[in-house]
Amino acid sequence: MAEWITVGKADDIAEGDATAFDVNGQQIAVSRVEGTLHAFSDICTHRQCNLSLGGEIDGTTIECECHGSVFDMATGEVLEGPATEPIEVFGVSDEGGDLKIEA
Ligand code: FES
Repeated sequence: MAEWITVGKADDIAEGDATAFDVNGQQIAVSRVEGTLHAFSDICTHRQCNLSLGGEIDGTTIECECHGSVFDMATGEVLEGPATEPIEVFGVSDEGGDLKIEA
């Protein structure tokens, strides 16, 4: 069952940036776009590159630096291949400055 887990401080997530956390063995990235937090699997569904490492953020999309797959960080949808499978997305919140992920 999913639970809310504190992974750090919400202020540590800079605007337009993504940071990955190990949450119960899952690599989950959190980004901030225009003040809104998004949490999503950090592992590209194409060949398992880490999206937060060098992934280029543009609006709510992130482009994998390995082969250019583009995902929507809010929905997990694939917007451009070669990936064909979406990435999982998670609940995320800023509770009094604590960064919490639902995983
Ligand atoms: S591993 Fe991400 S596009 Fe290939």
